[in-house]
Amino acid sequence: MSLSSIINNIPKAELHLHIEGSLTPELMWRLAKKHSVTLPYANVEEIEAAYNFEDLQSFLDLYYAGAGVLRDEEDFFTLMWEYLSRCFDDNIVHTEIMFDPQTHTERGISFDVFMAGFLRAMTKAKEEYGISSYLIMSFLRHLSEDDAFKTLEEAKPYYEHITAVGLDSSELGHPPSKFERVFKHAKSLGFKIVAHAGEEGPASYIWEAIELLDVDRIDHGVRCQEDDALMAHLKEKQIPLTVCPLSNLKLCVIDDMKEHNIIELLNAGLLVTVNSDDPTYFGGFLNDNFNALHQSLNLDEHTVRTLAANSFKASFLPENVKADFI
Ligand code: ADE
Ligand code: ZN
Repeated sequence: MSLSSIINNIPKAELHLHIEGSLTPELMWRLAKKHSVTLPYANVEEIEAAYNFEDLQSFLDLYYAGAGVLRDEEDFFTLMWEYLSRCFDDNIVHTEIMFDPQTHTERGISFDVFMAGFLRAMTKAKEEYGISSYLIMSFLRHLSEDDAFKTLEEAKPYYEHITAVGLDSSELGHPPSKFERVFKHAKSLGFKIVAHAGEEGPASYIWEAIELLDVDRIDHGVRCQEDDALMAHLKEKQIPLTVCPLSNLKLCVIDDMKEHNIIELLNAGLLVTVNSDDPTYFGGFLNDNFNALHQSLNLDEHTVRTLAANSFKASFLPENVKADFI
């Protein structure tokens, strides 16, 4: 069997996926028409052509603008259903999905609207595809800690449907330390904790996420190699890194996929996983990320199987369920 077939057929978990980053240009266009939203594009092709980024912020500006077409429960259902259908095609059997509530509540769209749509699609995917899915509520780090506290409070009716709390958006200038109190509170409520760190930000932000936020996983973390003590700590504690190769390329974290350090991190004994981040903006879903790595770094079958096993090891699934895939 070719490596590409192995990549397609092996069961996988995805652990770093922003649902708003799975909005296809076609759906964006359709919803803009439905809600009479004026987009700065003449057609779907122009939307696609705009996806050229020079850094994280240039992407985030488009990503938040794109999310503006999501208005009613059906929109959020369709967004989630399209992603979960894509998971079925890619043989993703479990996924832990980030959503950015503040992107919607800031526009006057309440938790009741987006959560109803998300949960309906997640239930349908479990029934029809057998796919399990968890939700990670992410705070936008360019906003204040008070705003994050307010969001955590607003989410209260939905706590039973939320597995983890995360931190995303503009990294530089917004270190994890800015959110120490709200994550302490979230942890005390029983949520798992994840945080984007070491994507554009320095290794010290990864340390802060570990020491101040008490994270269960680091999202990205690819700059950990800048600090030997951090590498040793990540290895010893087996703190997972949810790495997103095509994202790193599209956001100019690396210049060429051949430079990607994921295999060096794996060989150094770190628990790394492959993920798609914002697949429709970065040119590929999960299997595309595996294939891009294979093309540039020549993965072998053992490495693909290890990365797939890691995706379950690093997940928040119960240990007995993980065991079936490791
Ligand atoms: N939100 C969506 N994608 C993100 C990324 N790659 N980094 C930070 N925040 C994000
Ligand atoms: Zn991300």
